[in-house]
Amino acid sequence: MMSGPLSGKTIVVGVTGSIAAFKAPQIVTRLVGQGANVVVIMTENATRFVTPLTFETLSGNAVVVDMFPDRNTGVTSLEDAASRPERLRHVHLAEATDLAIVAPATANIIGKMANGVADDFLSTELLAMTCPTIMAPAMNVRMMESDVVRENVEKLKARGVIFAEAEVGRLASGVVGKGRLADPESIAGIALELLLPKQDLVGRRVVVSAGPTREPVDPVRFIGNRSSGKMGYALAERALRRGGDVVLVSGPSSLEPPHGVEYIRVETAVEMLGAVMKSFAEADLLIMAAAPADYRPAEPSDVKIKKTTDRLTLELVRTDDILSEAAGARREGQGIVGFALETNAELEEGRRKLAEKDLDIIVVNNPLVDDAGFDTDTNVAAILTRSGRELELAKMPKKDLADVILTEAINELGWGQRR
Ligand code: CTP
Repeated sequence: MMSGPLSGKTIVVGVTGSIAAFKAPQIVTRLVGQGANVVVIMTENATRFVTPLTFETLSGNAVVVDMFPDRNTGVTSLEDAASRPERLRHVHLAEATDLAIVAPATANIIGKMANGVADDFLSTELLAMTCPTIMAPAMNVRMMESDVVRENVEKLKARGVIFAEAEVGRLASGVVGKGRLADPESIAGIALELLLPKQDLVGRRVVVSAGPTREPVDPVRFIGNRSSGKMGYALAERALRRGGDVVLVSGPSSLEPPHGVEYIRVETAVEMLGAVMKSFAEADLLIMAAAPADYRPAEPSDVKIKKTTDRLTLELVRTDDILSEAAGARREGQGIVGFALETNAELEEGRRKLAEKDLDIIVVNNPLVDDAGFDTDTNVAAILTRSGRELELAKMPKKDLADVILTEAINELGWGQRR
């Protein structure tokens, strides 16, 4: 296999029955040339336009057409495919796939995908996949513009499917209109963009705080909170992927720190304050995704507290607000992103805290919304910026939200233009 920027990535290219299938080999060639492991899945109709052998030769992998080996069209089944190339052995294709591209995509596959129909190998795989998907439609202009196709396309877009829009041109029918497959180069270009992280944090030092803190009551007990650290760890990972030097200051969390970050493990809010201030002094950006305690026991006991009384009163004192301390010490050009957990009037509260704490960005989320907040893999958030941008985001994986937050921070700080 060739090596290149896409080395280690598995891309499924689905080819369906349109005359434009003759252009699909160019997409495969381009992706293989960039180092990707490309597995082509064809519908039976597609095999009437291009032979599987063409794709097998270009990709170096068996081409899958049929669900079942006994109904073979002269082409390999997944089982054969899995037993042949080393790269697929023991790995379920849907799980191993980093990106799926359907090019050309007929009205039929678009309709099936939009409605959850799985009646051949390609449609079944598409349903089973959780990776990003690019659809490159190609069809007759009247089909393209029919209400049902348009509705199906809208449905898929709403679910996050990316469309390489069909171009206007002379179609197979001789008519000039919209329906011609997007240029294979540009389809491969979208794939590259999706799979290769932007390198827009190169030369930037980013401090991310994550997780809860533990405030000791005595040698065996503490006051803590439900923060899991997932949001902060996702931010650290994505900032690293985008080329940043990342310091992760983390309270107790069961997560593995992303490989390549400078990891500082802390226990209490006081320790977190120390670690954050020290690393922020040399950094360009601070993202406070942690949930440090607002109060700690005033005088933690040196010995285990015995249950000798019916009532026990713990006196708590305020901890320092790390965000405000950092904002107070900031140098010109340093950026600060804060979080806020609000259960009502989220935007209003967010605006108030953004201004009060002198932040560049505040990410507001409501832990009472389903699939948001502590220890979930998804979040529902709004992002407010100093310059007045307000984004109310749909539910998304924390890793994707991390990328959106980083992009907003980079734009807000004007870092995009300089490099
Ligand atoms: N934070 C901090 N230092 C603390 C506590 C919180 O820097 N001791 C940061 C968190 O990392 C997060 C933001 O402040 O970025 C969270 O603020 P939030 O808990 O929503 O509200 P508060 O500002 O603490 O205000 P209130 O409790 O009044 O809502």
